[in-house]
Amino acid sequence: MSEKRRLRSQAWFGGQDKDAFIHRSWMKNSGHPDDAFDGRPVIGICNTYSELTPCNAHFRELVEHVKRGVYEAGGLPLEFPVFSCGESNLRPTAMLFRNLASMDVEESIRGNPIDGVVLMAGCDKTTPSLLMGAASCDLPSIVVSGGPMLNGRYRGRTLGSGTDVWRLSEDVRAGVSSQKDFLEAESGMSRSAGHCMTMGTASTMASLVEAMGVALPENAAYPAVDARRKRLAQLTGRRIVDMVAEDLTLSKILTRDAFENAIRINGVIGGSTNAVLHLLAIAGRVGVDLSLDDWDRWGRDVPTLLDLMPSGRFLMEDFCYAGGLPALMKRVEDLLKLDALTVTGRTIGENIAQAEVYDNEVIRTRDNPLMDQGGIAVLRGNLAPLGAVIKPSAASPQLLRHEGRAVVFETIEDYHARIDDPDLDVDETCVLVLKNCGPRGYPGMAEVGNMALPKKLLAQGVRDMVRISDARMSGTAFGTVVLHVAPEAAVGGPLALVRDGDIIKLDAHERTLHLDVDDAELARRKADWRMPEPAMKGGYQSLYVERVLQADQGADLDFLVGCRGSTVLRESH
Ligand code: FES
Repeated sequence: MSEKRRLRSQAWFGGQDKDAFIHRSWMKNSGHPDDAFDGRPVIGICNTYSELTPCNAHFRELVEHVKRGVYEAGGLPLEFPVFSCGESNLRPTAMLFRNLASMDVEESIRGNPIDGVVLMAGCDKTTPSLLMGAASCDLPSIVVSGGPMLNGRYRGRTLGSGTDVWRLSEDVRAGVSSQKDFLEAESGMSRSAGHCMTMGTASTMASLVEAMGVALPENAAYPAVDARRKRLAQLTGRRIVDMVAEDLTLSKILTRDAFENAIRINGVIGGSTNAVLHLLAIAGRVGVDLSLDDWDRWGRDVPTLLDLMPSGRFLMEDFCYAGGLPALMKRVEDLLKLDALTVTGRTIGENIAQAEVYDNEVIRTRDNPLMDQGGIAVLRGNLAPLGAVIKPSAASPQLLRHEGRAVVFETIEDYHARIDDPDLDVDETCVLVLKNCGPRGYPGMAEVGNMALPKKLLAQGVRDMVRISDARMSGTAFGTVVLHVAPEAAVGGPLALVRDGDIIKLDAHERTLHLDVDDAELARRKADWRMPEPAMKGGYQSLYVERVLQADQGADLDFLVGCRGSTVLRESH
């Protein structure tokens, strides 16, 4: 009979000495009996509950179901809070704090008597921040997502989170809808617990963690209020206890094959451009060599089959009823690495073997895709030497190959001040360029890349133009929007050198982005360029601005890249 492995938590709770006394005694003030520390697996439950993160505000209830499962399997669940990055409230942008939250997660896991971790994620940045932190420790870890809100409903029509905010807002600005209608839609859009129910970043990341095998099957699509979400949480609690026994650590699951599956599935679901940054950052933590070129290569010939907003018509609740992610993955199984191991202890191929599609309108057939070529296109050229991205499925097909005159905004404030100026020299063929909104420039790379169009063009019926920036775009947004231009303007990338009237050539089919200005002139402009002062001096923002990597490397902090393991040699007293 093989000898039972001594659990990590026993370095705290095992033994008869003063240190073990201290660790156990203080824990007993919660009422734990003696045998709670007898060598059973201690499961940390990393909870991003916060009333300021409305998408995760139901986690107090959901966590009880995780605990139930842990107890049932013979583990000891211990919940701990971490920084919760809420997308809808945090200023200047939740992305500024993704890396901070990941540090909180990493140190909380490593410093505590934990054998395995359940990561409770929901709102956009909570999923990558938890996975980045956990990957840098590499204990057995499993994600359970909070689930999407029910479909928005208002005056007999369906409303999608975010997507219809942009749409309704443009309608008001164009004068085709009233302010009263706009405000009344608020309550109908967000009418249940859960995160955005479009295929925005939260739903994308919930889908990709399932595709990568770090969450149980069905994690992506059950609505937050569906009883099956609670059941999934309970099963997750049971499963993590077994994963500890099997020593099924995160690095055994987050392999290059898992990332390949995720990138392909991102194309099939028409997922968010934000996933590019998050997967690059997670890969960096776990030591997988992943690049922007992998995104283009693996996503290039992948059809978008999921007909969800912002690219299509339906919402996550419909996706659930259509069969969810297992059914969608089954439909494209020939594109996947089916041998990739998952948290179930089985392969992804085994997990999806029995899955069926129940609605071919929502999960389209291979011969009737929403887009022939989904995925994220990675652009390069003298305007983006380190790359830029565009989501073709959210763009206007006729604009994917376009040449136009640049109308340049130096900062987001400059943009707000002038975009609706009736005298702004702009027409629908122009290319709107926004600078200084990248990782260092904003700071935090805000979701402002899908700039609203000039009011005077909206009034003429224009609904899309080519827009280029070093910013991000909400996963719920749409348009012909070139994002993540690297290097960013605030570090002196070529984007900083663009001037009004320059000609810009975009060819998303050929993957090029070209500024039609000769090298000598660009060199002259570069000599005159001065790095902008950071928005805030001191505090976390200073650390962030000094150490943040560019978008092509996932915008992690340079000193956080890599796995540092879970070993802590010294006692605290
Ligand atoms: Fe939280 Fe959209 S605001 S998921």
